[in-house]
Amino acid sequence: MSNTAVRARDTGRVGVLLAGMGSISTTLIAGVEAVKLGLGRPFGSLTQMAMMADPEQPGRHVPMAELLQLPTLDQVVFGGWDISEGTCYTAAKRAAVLQPHLLEAVRAPLESIVPMPGIHDTRFLRRAEGKRIKPLQNKWEQAEALRADIRAFRVENRLEQVVVLWCGSTEVFLTPGPAHQATGIFEAAMKENEPTIAPSMVYAYAALKERCAFVNATPTLTVDLPVMKELAAANGAPICGKDLKTGQTLLKTILAPGIKQRMLGLAGWFSMNILGNQDGAVLDDPAAFRSKEESKLSVLNDILEPALYPELYGQLSHQVKINYYPPRGDNKESWDTIDLVGWLGYEMQIKVNFLCRDSILAAPLLLDLALLSSAAQRAGWHGTQDWLAFYFKSPQVSQGRPEHDLSVQFQQLQAALRTLAQRVPQTAGVRG
Ligand SMILES: NC(=O)c1ccc[n+]([C@@H]2O[C@H](COP(=O)([O-])OP(=O)(O)OC[C@H]3O[C@@H](n4cnc5c(N)ncnc54)[C@H](O)[C@@H]3O)[C@@H](O)[C@H]2O)c1
Repeated sequence: MSNTAVRARDTGRVGVLLAGMGSISTTLIAGVEAVKLGLGRPFGSLTQMAMMADPEQPGRHVPMAELLQLPTLDQVVFGGWDISEGTCYTAAKRAAVLQPHLLEAVRAPLESIVPMPGIHDTRFLRRAEGKRIKPLQNKWEQAEALRADIRAFRVENRLEQVVVLWCGSTEVFLTPGPAHQATGIFEAAMKENEPTIAPSMVYAYAALKERCAFVNATPTLTVDLPVMKELAAANGAPICGKDLKTGQTLLKTILAPGIKQRMLGLAGWFSMNILGNQDGAVLDDPAAFRSKEESKLSVLNDILEPALYPELYGQLSHQVKINYYPPRGDNKESWDTIDLVGWLGYEMQIKVNFLCRDSILAAPLLLDLALLSSAAQRAGWHGTQDWLAFYFKSPQVSQGRPEHDLSVQFQQLQAALRTLAQRVPQTAGVRG
């Protein structure tokens, strides 16, 4: 057995609390249980599949999980909150992502996970009722109750670390306001039930105060705020977001950099989506769609730099549409029509038709983000984790502009992982 394999055993149990246990969360949990039973392989997850160069033996490669001393899937404990009724099993059945026979095989562990009552505000999520909610109206009291939930989860499951992931429905579009600027102001505002504090921010506040790493899988602001950056620094917690880069945007950030590297012009990029899951129903609300639209639209502008190349990209018409189309369920289909301009202004077109599965693409990203955030925290990294931009449509950065080009993001990720791998043995040594 290699040294790295021995080290991997030292890792403690990690708790993963999912705020919002719908399609993507239950596909993650059911998937992990299925992998543990040998019923499927965790394709799409770097932490489970990727190999890294062994720094101790040139030419040799070892699994990333070993090198980084990541917890094994048996050492991951799931829990969370949801405002809908039922167990994780009923939620997974409702989501209808996985085949019934696979769900039956993991029924027992899924049924044992009953989401805790969540917090809800219809001003931020207009298309959900909220059937399992804490009987508290005041945001400060809600945060205190969520903090108590996290502490109890940590103690009951004997967890070394807890990571919180915001996987709830997309909230209505918001911009940062005065209440989001500093901890003292934010706490006073919560006590006053300030209307610009969304439920996802209350979850984030509670998580950071409990020294948990926090991941924002959705397009909402949540931790991309000065107050959250301050709290993350003060409590030694890594934060990252926004909006998992799964389907159409993943392809966009692979294609667009190549078009730009060849100095081809772009007159237009028209992106259509149909999807029929609960996420699609929520995004049918224009105020929620606005959050998604902002996150999807920012991508091309940052990659193409029209200010630097006005001739090539100054006139680009970039449009994104999402249509709720129930027959497709979680199986999203996207079409991209890309209007290219070549030598002497001659026009060309590229058509992309991606028949993807939304939550099947999202689940491995959630697993990686949970494990890598916890590894970052063990290594003493806190605040915004720019190196995790690889996973997001609209990456949260500590300063400046985010990087969108997938290949550059991947290089940044690999560089950070190599540094992390060097730091991990020291951390394990300290933990004894
Ligand atoms: N599926 C993907 O590929 C993908 C990609 C990127 C981002 N996302 C984002 O991830 C989020 C979840 O997606 P999904 O497909 O699982 O949606 P979903 O509708 O299936 O699940 C969302 C769950 O959140 C719960 N919820 C809503 N508000 C809550 C609150 N305040 N507290 C606790 N629970 C709450 C709902 O009851 C529901 O069970 C969405 O915001 C979506 O935009 C999804």
